[in-house]
Amino acid sequence: MAWITENRRTAVVEKGSSPYLTEDMKAELRDIYFPRYPTKRAVLLPALHLVQHKYNWLPTAALEEIAVFLEVSPAEVMDTVTFYDEYWLKPKGKYLIGVCRSLACEICQADKITEHLKTKLGVDVGDTSADGQFTLIEMECIGSCGTAPAALVNEVLHEDLTVEKFDALINKLPTDPHDYKDPSITWDENGHGGHHGT
Ligand code: FES
Repeated sequence: MAWITENRRTAVVEKGSSPYLTEDMKAELRDIYFPRYPTKRAVLLPALHLVQHKYNWLPTAALEEIAVFLEVSPAEVMDTVTFYDEYWLKPKGKYLIGVCRSLACEICQADKITEHLKTKLGVDVGDTSADGQFTLIEMECIGSCGTAPAALVNEVLHEDLTVEKFDALINKLPTDPHDYKDPSITWDENGHGGHHGT
């Protein structure tokens, strides 16, 4: 069997005029996370979350900055990032739409919703719309088989979906995705949420 490898030797790391890992972010990692973990290296996942939350993806230059800050090798950071599906190494739309494609949803014609979204957004599965608003993916069972077909939009669950319901949902999405909150959760003024009744 032949291994096909990607040639990264000549890859160019795009650097912005200012660092991705800002002084504020470093202070947050230093003051809040370092005391909670036994080593700097153990703060890698929170650091990746912090950067991705701000930019919505992880540019290679940001990975290098995290590696320097946490005193780990860039290869270790890349190993971690590529291990988890939740990290994005290419720009992601403001809204990540994940339509479940597992059995219960498949039986309930989730594929019709996916096909509709592909046409509506002008993308293929895995792609981001030209305006940078939406990235469409398919997911395996998201635990709502009883209310299939189901999908996640930026981690908010939507059930019993139809093409019409999805259109209405997309039309109502706020411009700033940080304003898009799960209605089943009660949010305080600091943006911290708790489930109703807790
Ligand atoms: S199969 Fe879609 S939520 Fe379980």
